[in-house]
Amino acid sequence: MNPQKVDILVIGSGIAGMMAAIEAKELGSNVAIVMKKSPLANNSFMAKGGINAALNNMGDGDSIEHHIEDTLKSGVGLAEEEAVRIFCEQAPQVVRELHKKFKVPFTTLPDGRLAQRPFGGTKYKRTCYAADSTGPAIMKALNKALKELNIDTIKNHFAINLLVNDGKIAGATFLDETTGELKTIQAKAIIVATGGYAGLYKGYTTNVSDATGDGIAMGLRAGLEGMDLEFVQFHPTGLKGSNFLISEAARAEGGRLINSDGKEFVDELNTRDFVARAILRQIQKGKEVYLDLTDIPEEIINTKLINLKKRVKSLKGIDITKEPIPINPLAHYTMGGIKTDTFGFTDIEGLFYVGEAGNNGVNGANRLGGNSLSEGAVFGKLAGYNAVKYSHRNKEFIDIKNEDVEKDKNLIEKLKNTKINAKEIKNQLGEIMYHKVGIIRSGYALKKALQKIKDLSKLEINDEDSSLIEKLEAINGLDIAKAVTKAALDREESRGAHFRMDFPESDHAFLHHTYTKI
Ligand code: FUM
Repeated sequence: MNPQKVDILVIGSGIAGMMAAIEAKELGSNVAIVMKKSPLANNSFMAKGGINAALNNMGDGDSIEHHIEDTLKSGVGLAEEEAVRIFCEQAPQVVRELHKKFKVPFTTLPDGRLAQRPFGGTKYKRTCYAADSTGPAIMKALNKALKELNIDTIKNHFAINLLVNDGKIAGATFLDETTGELKTIQAKAIIVATGGYAGLYKGYTTNVSDATGDGIAMGLRAGLEGMDLEFVQFHPTGLKGSNFLISEAARAEGGRLINSDGKEFVDELNTRDFVARAILRQIQKGKEVYLDLTDIPEEIINTKLINLKKRVKSLKGIDITKEPIPINPLAHYTMGGIKTDTFGFTDIEGLFYVGEAGNNGVNGANRLGGNSLSEGAVFGKLAGYNAVKYSHRNKEFIDIKNEDVEKDKNLIEKLKNTKINAKEIKNQLGEIMYHKVGIIRSGYALKKALQKIKDLSKLEINDEDSSLIEKLEAINGLDIAKAVTKAALDREESRGAHFRMDFPESDHAFLHHTYTKI
């Protein structure tokens, strides 16, 4: 075994991973960033509507304290105040840095300050944006910085397992998709920023299809705890019959939700959990639900929602200035992740988890719309800083145990030689998760789901085969799905994004995090 060696290894290339890698490199460390695909193939790129920071540029009296209050309120008792406070205090600085230093082309006011729009869950205009392509604008700018800083960028590598020795991180194994070989990278510190697991709701998600929680599964296998895995956020407005996200920006600019009788039935800018449940109840009554943008002046559509206009036209042939858009809620974001402290430190020395992969409690039971990009940026940058400090204190590489690498080599060989219809497993998992572990849950449905997931986990040998990556994703997905379902079953109350029809009220006895091990 002759592993590649690097001081700081970042796994995952969304906003949290990119910010971590850039920070570590700027502090003088030797850094590599490994990604499943390419730098722009991730959920941060898919986030269109905006990024929160209490700048008060619209003069409506917004402040860091208001941002803290809204984030805590949205988290329904489970958001950790220290993490929320640090996040809200640092978001303005980080967003300014994205604009000034990384040259993100945010939409500006005539005086050059950043424009801000309203989003759900607050009465303040707090969300900075680049028309309706905020994620792409940020990710392109960070990718440019990655290149300018000559950060070693390793594409098409699927992270398989963390290599741990005596409680300390030693490295990680990867499947090199191009060669089909197992690769080992040794590092003094590792930052996992591989995203969440909303992709498990295949067919019913706004996420890139490979958001299968691989980094979280890897952490659970390494003995770490998952925290609050039951909390899955459904975005109210997915374009019906597709995975296309109609940004909250559309409602912020005046879009109305109506049912097939033309009636309004919910406050469009309430928190996402509330709006998503209201929509589902309409659908369960046999109604169609539409987002009606026809009252918004065409000039606004053409400047602030132009990407939406083009995409809905190309996907469904609908002119959004003339017709309402059929919608349904889609799994969008997962609050649960590997348990960390406020700064992303895990129980394994030298190992950090950030963004959707980790859970430092900043979102509690439900994330506030617009917080995800700023959360990734703030805590990604902090993890980069702390990983460098850790690597200065711990100068030696930790030995990788040969038997751990051999185990993964054998796994790859076994999977290469076993026909598994992983595509079908992922499709079935999507159905189970959406219908039984979805927006409105019950003990009965969750128990059924658990049994079905266990049956699927037998990975029956099949005539149809799938790619090695799909097989690995299916194995990870099944592990996470089981953990999510168990956590949802244990939480016998309703709170934030977790709603149980058999326990429709919040219960003080459950005012605590859940921890799951596999
Ligand atoms: O609706 C949106 O544009 C999504 C933003 C977010 O998830 O924060």
